[in-house]
Amino acid sequence: MTSDLIFDVQNVTLRFGGVTSLSSVTLQHRRGEILAVIGPNGAGKTSLFNSLTGVYQPQEGTITFNSASRGATSIIGKMPHSVARLGIARTFQASRLFNALTTFENIKVGVESGQKTGPIGAMLKLPRTRHEENASDERALELLEFVGLEHRLNTMADSLPYGDRRRLEIARALGTNPEVLLLDEPAAGTNPAEKSELTNLIRKIGREFGISVLLIEHDMRLVMALAERLYVLNFGSVIAEGTPDEIRANPAVIDAYLGSTDPDTAKESH
Ligand SMILES: Nc1ncnc2c1ncn2[C@@H]1O[C@H](COP(=O)(O)OP(=O)(O)OP(=O)(O)O)[C@@H](O)[C@H]1O
Ligand SMILES: [Mg+2]
Repeated sequence: MTSDLIFDVQNVTLRFGGVTSLSSVTLQHRRGEILAVIGPNGAGKTSLFNSLTGVYQPQEGTITFNSASRGATSIIGKMPHSVARLGIARTFQASRLFNALTTFENIKVGVESGQKTGPIGAMLKLPRTRHEENASDERALELLEFVGLEHRLNTMADSLPYGDRRRLEIARALGTNPEVLLLDEPAAGTNPAEKSELTNLIRKIGREFGISVLLIEHDMRLVMALAERLYVLNFGSVIAEGTPDEIRANPAVIDAYLGSTDPDTAKESH
């Protein structure tokens, strides 16, 4: 039987020398859920994502990923490329697009990273590869349309407007056919119109693709509109968990946001 938890994180502690980035963090992400992780700067949000994706190796605790097709896998000790192959995709806080490639090519990189032949086979153009290449072109086009970038097909990534870059990153991550998508501040630096487009896009990813979404976001309006549940981190510890309404009313959360009486106005993206 498949667990209804896509991620089960138990008592994870991550230290760098004297700095404790995560302190006995326990978090459960239900399959199909849009779950958010919020907290002030330096709270440990990105460290948590890095621990879930094999970039950081916590000293204590367990992280179980429950794939619908492959069952349970322990993440700690795995390298990032092996984690990605399990069906876990992410975007980064700071943009990591291939700037010298077009929009279309960036997405194809995502799609092809999940295929059997790999980049060497793709260069050699083996027969099976050609078949895969057509399939990956089709998939890349589908994803371009899905994120609304079909008109930017041949635009070099480095000349895309900021909001389009963020959507391209999401499309590239979706290209790997993940079961769960981790988004690290997808709306940071975007304008209000781009924020509302991103909100709709993230909602669609959950609904149309049935992908579980784990979201880090400083913009309270956006995160409260999207998330079904939230965890609040402060100094590496979980200080609250609940629905948007529960979190808004939680005194510990309000304190963590530096004495503001309203988390909505406490912090916008930085
Ligand atoms: N590779 C590392 N080496 C040393 N310390 C690190 C490393 N990565 C993270 N930290 C520390 O862990 C703590 C949490 O950082 P993290 O980047 O996870 O915070 P965050 O919640 O994502 O913050 P922000 O909102 O600013 O992105 C910080 O004190 C940071 O300096
Ligand atoms: Mg961060």
